[in-house]
This record gives sequence, C-alpha cells and structure tokens, in this order.
Amino acid sequence: MTHKIRKAVFPAAGLGTRFLPATKSMPKEMLTLVDKPLIQYGVEEAVASGIESILIITGRDKASIENHFDISFELEQVLKERGKTEAFKQVRALSEIAQIVYTRQKQALGLGHAIYQAKEFAGDEAFAVMLPDDIMDSETPALKQLIDVYEKYDAPVLATMQIEGETISRFGVIDAEEVEPNVYKIKDVIEKPKYEDAPSDMAVIGRYIFTPELFDALEKTEPGAGGEIQVADGLRTLLKKGRPYYAVKLEGTRHDAGDKLGFLIATVEYALKNENLGAEFRDYLKSLNLSADSAKK
Ligand code: G1P
Repeated sequence: MTHKIRKAVFPAAGLGTRFLPATKSMPKEMLTLVDKPLIQYGVEEAVASGIESILIITGRDKASIENHFDISFELEQVLKERGKTEAFKQVRALSEIAQIVYTRQKQALGLGHAIYQAKEFAGDEAFAVMLPDDIMDSETPALKQLIDVYEKYDAPVLATMQIEGETISRFGVIDAEEVEPNVYKIKDVIEKPKYEDAPSDMAVIGRYIFTPELFDALEKTEPGAGGEIQVADGLRTLLKKGRPYYAVKLEGTRHDAGDKLGFLIATVEYALKNENLGAEFRDYLKSLNLSADSAKK
C-alpha cells in the first residue's frame, strides 16, 4: 500500500556559487523570477500536488527564506491601512501556504547529506524532494506527475528529461528501460559522468519521491562526484540490492534558474506569461533591434 505523499523536502543550503556576486549575501532560492522568489514557485508546485507539510533545509544566511513564509505584521498592517487589499491577501496567503519547518545543514557536504537531514521529518513515510533551482513549467504540476507514477508502481520515482550533447555531464544520468510511455524502470544511475561514460541521454531533474530506506543507504554513502555525498550514490546502493526505482519523463519545460542564462530565459518566459506585464513586455521585446550589428554596441 502506498502512503499518500504529504511531505516535501527542499534542500536550500547551497552556496549559490554559480550566481555570484548576487548570492554573496542573498540565498539563491530568493532570486526573483518576475515577482516571486524561486522557492515560492517550488512551494506552490508542492501544494498544487497535494503536499501539506514542508521541510526547508537551510544554512547560514538563509533567514530571508523563513521571513518570506512567515507572517509580517507590520507589512500587513500598512497594507490594510492603505486599503491595498489584493497585496494584503497575497502576503497573508504566503504565510498560510503550507506547514513549513526548517532545519540547518551545518556543512555543505552534498545533496545526499542535505536530504539526510530530513530523516526525522520523514519518519516512516515516503516523501518528495524538490530542488528549488529547477523551475518546472507544466500543465500538470511536475511533482504530481511523479506522485501518479509512485501510486501506480508503489516504488520511488525520479524525474527525468532528455539532454542533448555534453551538457549531460552536469547531471545525474540514468540507465533505464521504458515500461510504458514516458515511464522507465531504472537499472543504474551515475552522478555527473563524463560525456563518453554517460549511460544514456536521460538526466535526473530535481524532483524525487523517496522512501525512508534512502536514509540507511545515505548513512553508508562515501563522498562521490565533486567530493560530495551524492543522493545518486545512495540510490545506486539500493538499486544494487534489487530495489525497484522508476523515472518519469516530465511533460513541460524545465528551467535551471540557478544558472545565469537559465535564469534569464525563465524570466523572459514567465514575464511574457504574466497577466499584468505580458502584453507590454511582448511589445517591448518586439521593439528591440536584435540584428547582429546591434549586439556589438
Ligand atoms: C543535482 C543532482 C543531479 C541532478 C541535478 C538536477 O545536481 O545531484 O543528479 O541531475 O541536481 O538539477 P546539482 O545541480 O545540485 O549539482
């Protein structure tokens, strides 16, 4: 019997080195896509997928994440007094979006180590892990797509997508066999392989459903790629023991918003879709002279 997936874990302790200097004193999870910080997109996706309880794994200098999902009495008071009802509602809704708790990863020892901090939170339930850099824009919420596969196969699930060329070596990569359209049974997973060693073009994307068994595997996992404790290596141990793991090829677009170019692309896409800004922004983009000559100026 599968458990209903009620809990989600957001690792948010990373140093954000790909986005310096912006992330020197500001969490990368608080970088703003149009008018919402990255982590809010993830939390909204979680809630839309049926998640009730969230653990955010933070580190030093991440207080603004907690403030973002807390009640801000002063701000609410001012908005009320000024009759800014819409803004008031938005701000209030954020503090009520889900039950959110926090824990600190005291040392940045890798994604596997970060997820391990969720051991108490998960207890004996299967749980979701969502990487806030990976912004998923899809018809059905990305996490919901994983939950559907989890419920059908009664086994943990990872998100995957095809990645062309050498970029594959920035990801965890699966070796897998398709069992139905867009659903795969995983044979192996390798974290950040060299291009020539990648077992396929199927990259792991930052959405997972795990069972608590993962914690035992992580306890025994030695540092791997980049000298970090990798969740992919924990998974490997379980796969070798014959545990079934599935992957679902996500419908939708994934933006790597922790990367400067990925972030810019996501910003343009979300701005164009924005109800209040989209039309004017489109007109602005159309007015740009994007010929090769103008780029040099
Ligand atoms: C992490 C995971 C990797 C996955 C990627 C997806 O890597 O370790 O397996 O493919 O997220 O975004 P990171 O990007 O944190 O180095």
